[in-house]
Amino acid sequence: DSKHTFTCTLSSGTNIACIKYWGKKSVALNTPINSSVSVTLDQKDLKTVTTVVASKSFEKNRLWLNGTEEDVTNSKRFNACVDGVRRMGGERRGEGKEVLVEKGGWGDYKVHVSSMNTFPTAAGLASSAAGYSALVKCLAEVFCASESYPGELSTIARQGSGSACRSLQGGFVAWRMGSKADGSDSMAEQVCNENHWPEMRAVILVISDLKKDTSSTEGMGTSVDTSELLGFRAREGGVVDRRMELIEKAYKERDFEAFGKVTMQDSNQFHATCLDTYPPIFYMNDTSKSVIKIVHAYNAWKGRVAAAYTFDAGPNAVIYCLDDVVDEVLALMLQYYPGRRLDGRYVRDGEAWGRARG
Ligand code: PMV
Repeated sequence: DSKHTFTCTLSSGTNIACIKYWGKKSVALNTPINSSVSVTLDQKDLKTVTTVVASKSFEKNRLWLNGTEEDVTNSKRFNACVDGVRRMGGERRGEGKEVLVEKGGWGDYKVHVSSMNTFPTAAGLASSAAGYSALVKCLAEVFCASESYPGELSTIARQGSGSACRSLQGGFVAWRMGSKADGSDSMAEQVCNENHWPEMRAVILVISDLKKDTSSTEGMGTSVDTSELLGFRAREGGVVDRRMELIEKAYKERDFEAFGKVTMQDSNQFHATCLDTYPPIFYMNDTSKSVIKIVHAYNAWKGRVAAAYTFDAGPNAVIYCLDDVVDEVLALMLQYYPGRRLDGRYVRDGEAWGRARG
C-alpha cells in the first residue's frame, strides 16, 4: 500500500568525547552520573547511513545492521527510539496536500530499518552514537515528529545510546547530565557549531577493528559498583565538572594547548577508572600505549601541546590536532607504523589507517 508507506534515508557522523561519559545514574532511563563533551566529526570518512521505511502493512519492527538482520524484538534501546519518536509523530500530507496520516495517527505503523557503518562497528569508535543518531533523525522525518520542548529528540537518542545524543548536532557538543528524575533534561547542547574551529582535525588510528570484549554498558555497571576513583571523578563539583568548564572555555577561545591537555588527561583518567574497576577492564593495548608515548615525545619536541590523543572503550586512538601539523602527525605515525597511502587513507598489513576532519 504505497499511500501508507513512507521512507527516509540520511546519515549521521560519529563523535569522539574529550570529557568522557562513564557510568549510568539510571539504567532504565540511560542517564549519566556526569556530563560529557565531544567533537562531532564530519561525514567524510566515518558515518552511519540509515534508511527507515514505515508501513502499516509491516508485521513487526526489523533492523538490518551492515546488511545482516538483528533481532530487535526485545531490544529496549531500539524500541525506545522507535516508540519515542512515533509518539511525537505529526500530520503527514501527500503531494496534493491531502492528509495521509493525522497527527498522532502513527500507532499502527511498524518500521524496517537498514543501517550501514563506514567504519568498524562496536570497536570503540562510537558506532552506536552515529547509528542511533541517524536512526532518530530518520524516524523524526518519516513520522513528521515535532518536539514539545527543545531537546526532546536528544532525550530519545540518549535512550538508544548515551553518546548518540551528542551526534545530533555538529561541532563541540555537551551532554548535560540533568537533574530531573524522569530524565527529560538529560540532553545534548551545542557549545560551538561546526564552523567555529575549522582548523580542528581528528586523525583516526584503527589499531584493531575487532568487537570490544566488554560492552560500555557492562563496563560502566561494574565501574559504578566497584571503582572509588569513578566516584571521586564524577561527584558534584569534582574533576569532571571542573574540566567541563575549562574545556568549554578553551574550545570557545580556540586554545588548543588547554583543549589538548585536558583531553589527554581525561582519556587517561577514564582508563585509570577502568583499571580501578574490579575485576579491571583493559581497553587499551600495547600499541595504544605506544601511541601515547609518541604523542608526548612529539609535544616535547614541539615545545607545546600540538597533538592530543584520546581513547574510548577500545584500543583505537583518535588524535586531535590543528590543520598546520596534521601532515607531520601522520608522517610521524607512519614512521612508527609503516604503511601505504590508499584513496586518502593509510593502510597497513591487515589494518586500516584513516584520517577524518573534525
Ligand atoms: O554511549 P555509549 O554506551 O556508547 O558509551 C560511550 C562511552 C565512551 O565512549 C567511553 C565515552 C563517551 O563519552 O563517548
